Amino acid sequence: MRNKLLALSLGVSFMALTGCQDGSATTGTKTETQEKDIFVGKPMSMEYEEEITKLISQMTLEEKAGMLHGTSMFATSGVPRLGIPELTMADGPLGIREEISRDSWAPAGWDNDFATYLPAGAGLSATWNPELAHTFGSVIGAEARERNKDVLLAPAFNIIRTPLGGRTYEYFSEDPFLNTQITVPYIVGVQEHDVAACIKHYAVNNQETNRGTVDVQMDERTLREIYLPAFEAAITDAHAYSVMGAYNRFRGDYLNENEYMLQNVLRDEWGFKGIVISDWAAIHSTVKALKAGADVEMGTPGPFNEFYFADPLIAAVKSGELAEEEVDKHVRRVLRLMYNIKSIDSTGRAKGARNTEEHFQEAYNIASESVVLLKNDKNVLPLNLEGVKSIAVIGDNATKKNALGGFGAGVKTKREVTPLEGLQNRLPESVKINHAQGYLERYSKTERAKFGDITLDGPVTIDELDPKLLEEAVNAAKNSDVAIIFAGSNRDYETEASDRASLDLPFGQQELIEKVMQANPNTIVVLIAGAPFDIEDISQKSSTLVWSWFNGSEGGNALADVLLGTVNPSGKLPWTMPKKLEDSPAHATNSFPGGETATYDEGILVGYRWFDTKNVEPLYPFGYGLSYTDFEFSNARLDKKEAYAGDETIQVSVDVKNTGDFDGKEVVQLYVSKLDSKVERAAQELKGFKKATVAKGATKTVTIDVPVKELAYYNMENNNWTVEPGTYTLKLGNSSRNILQEVTVQVK
Ligand code: BGC
Repeated sequence: MRNKLLALSLGVSFMALTGCQDGSATTGTKTETQEKDIFVGKPMSMEYEEEITKLISQMTLEEKAGMLHGTSMFATSGVPRLGIPELTMADGPLGIREEISRDSWAPAGWDNDFATYLPAGAGLSATWNPELAHTFGSVIGAEARERNKDVLLAPAFNIIRTPLGGRTYEYFSEDPFLNTQITVPYIVGVQEHDVAACIKHYAVNNQETNRGTVDVQMDERTLREIYLPAFEAAITDAHAYSVMGAYNRFRGDYLNENEYMLQNVLRDEWGFKGIVISDWAAIHSTVKALKAGADVEMGTPGPFNEFYFADPLIAAVKSGELAEEEVDKHVRRVLRLMYNIKSIDSTGRAKGARNTEEHFQEAYNIASESVVLLKNDKNVLPLNLEGVKSIAVIGDNATKKNALGGFGAGVKTKREVTPLEGLQNRLPESVKINHAQGYLERYSKTERAKFGDITLDGPVTIDELDPKLLEEAVNAAKNSDVAIIFAGSNRDYETEASDRASLDLPFGQQELIEKVMQANPNTIVVLIAGAPFDIEDISQKSSTLVWSWFNGSEGGNALADVLLGTVNPSGKLPWTMPKKLEDSPAHATNSFPGGETATYDEGILVGYRWFDTKNVEPLYPFGYGLSYTDFEFSNARLDKKEAYAGDETIQVSVDVKNTGDFDGKEVVQLYVSKLDSKVERAAQELKGFKKATVAKGATKTVTIDVPVKELAYYNMENNNWTVEPGTYTLKLGNSSRNILQEVTVQVK
């Protein structure tokens, strides 16, 4: 569509934004010439086509079919006699998944498949730092390569349409622009290591309920403005080499049989040259799927020869139902990908690296910029240790590990620093830690299939606290100078394949938090989760509230550093925290989860677009997050006075002054409003942002580029993007609800 990304990384001197362990100002300014453009990937090279033709001409039909379907859980067959290796794949978003058996979902039982556990998607996007997204991609790409994987089944970036979504923790955002800014550099980072990113799940796969069958319906404008931008940029800007076709249907057809999505949009419009890999067991036909544009069928345990793209494909060719040229077309794409990642001729292929100290450090850097300070009314944070002799550390999440858990891909890691360990690592020995578990993670018997051993045996309900644990927790709080509760959820509770039933905090935590707060007025509540919860009551009652994520190998150290002030928090919510579920658009319109069909009745008003347009007060708005310092914005200005033409870029500058006592990082967010539009518009839309490091007392000018074409809406009358001429308001703030400066621009 629009080459929106390039402009953002050019044209301004660029601060090195990677996190500093000491939370201080950045380590240096890179000049434009040194700066690699993390928003531009390497297009697929077409220089191997002749060699590919030669190879295909020597292959039997059976060999071709072997390359188009899984012949083990995470690989397709190669053709050894022609020097074609298997195509190997690995999940996934949190780091390189442990090796899975070739013919079942059971772990293969290797002892050398450990990997760095990286912060889950929501944590990465909460950094609002594309540079860190590139770092993330680069780390996971290097680890994939070192494990001999060709395709990384990531990033996963479906739009967060409902806060209940089981995979919200894994995805990035409710906003297409933020989504794009995290997705593109991530892919660029992965593919620098000669590993293909497999972007997922294409597309409109926004719920787990009925995910294998649900038929999603929405108008074209909603599709184009909300659900496709990050996928499009992933292809046209990052040049992702593979795409995962989702489980669900769209406008009647399964995504892997959807000619409109796979051929018209992906290949014809966006110029995709790579391969479409099905989600596991998401293919439902042979001829229809192949003709629509699916290339490789992956699935759950065999018999692999019974897959649609295995024996049935061979039979379809033999019976004349499918032309062999059609098969060749798909094989060609697979071979093209293999040449591009140098898996066929491996001369000069990247070697990768795994579990290095550098990778753990990068995981730390990401985690430390992701933590969101929600409330700090009494300035309890950063914790002043003067006079503090003891700290109560309460809650199952103080020790809960999240690298593995739930249904779906996790990481087997040698390092996962828990919050308790982080505090032990960082607190001086003079401070005694009084640890109490507080609550138990437990599930009802009916959920045993999902949660295995951590189910209840007794007559209590999942929300009842264990009286003994409660007493211990209250005593620990009473007998300590400060109490920190680590609550929230975990990756057993938030999981692929099911959406949550409600936003309630599970396991009786609400009661526990209240009792601990009563026992000790100096209580800090830290919520660790990947998706919104109903925390309105807790938020009213507590003065100090911190939000953290399933935050990778170094998550506990990063969190401790934020609490103790060595890192000044700079994370911002990548989605809206509603006061109650019914306020969220998919629920307000009663269109989640649908039945056989899910019609997205809120249309383009997803996330904050709904809250702002309908004047619904969120609990914490999109883009929100406090700092230990304060920032003032002033002097918002444009680069010119005259009206802008459609091909121009608007440059907006604002001075950001750090008026507090700490060095810090602030995310300058730019929202656009068009009041007198002739079409329905959201009250405002994010169209730019930049994270800036500003030393205490200093002022920094932040410049954000907004290509005028970014202001377009998708016009269903001519199926194209239209920029309306007239006046636009550009609003600069540090959350969607805290706009500090405004400028108006004229567009010709
Ligand atoms: C998930 C994918 C994942 C695949 C292989 C599916 O259940 O939806 O995201 O890559 O399994 O593990």
